[in-house]
Amino acid sequence: MTFTDNTVSVVIGGTSGIGAAVASALAERPGRVEVASRSTGLDIADAAAVAAYFQTVGPIDHLIVTAGSSAPGGTVADVDLKAAKAAFDIKFWGTIVLAREAAKTMRAGGTITFTSGFLARRTVPGTFVKSAMNAALEATVKILARELAPLRINVVSPGLTRTEAYSGMAGDARDAMFDRAAATLPAGRVGEPEDIAQGYLFAIDNPFVTGSVIDIEGGALIN
Ligand SMILES: NC(=O)c1ccc[n+]([C@@H]2O[C@H](COP(=O)([O-])OP(=O)(O)OC[C@H]3O[C@@H](n4cnc5c(N)ncnc54)[C@H](OP(=O)(O)O)[C@@H]3O)[C@@H](O)[C@H]2O)c1
Repeated sequence: MTFTDNTVSVVIGGTSGIGAAVASALAERPGRVEVASRSTGLDIADAAAVAAYFQTVGPIDHLIVTAGSSAPGGTVADVDLKAAKAAFDIKFWGTIVLAREAAKTMRAGGTITFTSGFLARRTVPGTFVKSAMNAALEATVKILARELAPLRINVVSPGLTRTEAYSGMAGDARDAMFDRAAATLPAGRVGEPEDIAQGYLFAIDNPFVTGSVIDIEGGALIN
């Protein structure tokens, strides 16, 4: 799509990690880039706050959602249900509310790009909250792409990517996890935020892409 001085892109979750990389790539283009997250005062689990946010931003061309990276681990039998529901309220329901509100003010030619994750289609015991949340987003994106056409709606599904999402881990354990993954993945490396950012740019720029799940996961799904 052509970017002009009037193009408005909104990156929810753009204050960190993958979203920050998308926001910096879009900032190289003409137009305005709005970034929001809890640290800028927007919690996407608060539907009224999301509606008010889009009122302030005005008409937009592109919405990118990367917010909500945490979800409790655990088996179906023992997972903390309260934490699991809270994770859904942010990543799944928050994303849905963002799409509903953004679609109201989106200009012709607009796009919405969600974020899922490779666990949506990889079976790893103890990760079902992430799997279920991401699979739900991947299913919904296809329905939304029909319901909101000719707006184009896609989802980028990242594999393990080196971002602030892992800053809570001890440095050694984190590096060991990245090294182990790099040694196992067909691509021979883990993702960098800039690798994943290219998927959102592809979804925005290619006018023939809608309802697509764009896997950028170093081959995790063929491993
Ligand atoms: N990194 C990976 O290995 C990986 C793998 C697969 C999928 N993903 C997915 O990729 C997306 C981005 O992950 P990332 O690694 O870039 O994570 P990140 O660095 O932790 O960034 C997450 C962003 O979401 C925002 N956020 C979190 N909760 C929010 C809320 N309730 N309301 C508004 N904003 C909120 C955070 O900002 P505030 O704290 O200021 O709110 C931050 O800007 C996530 O959906 C994640 O599940 C990541």
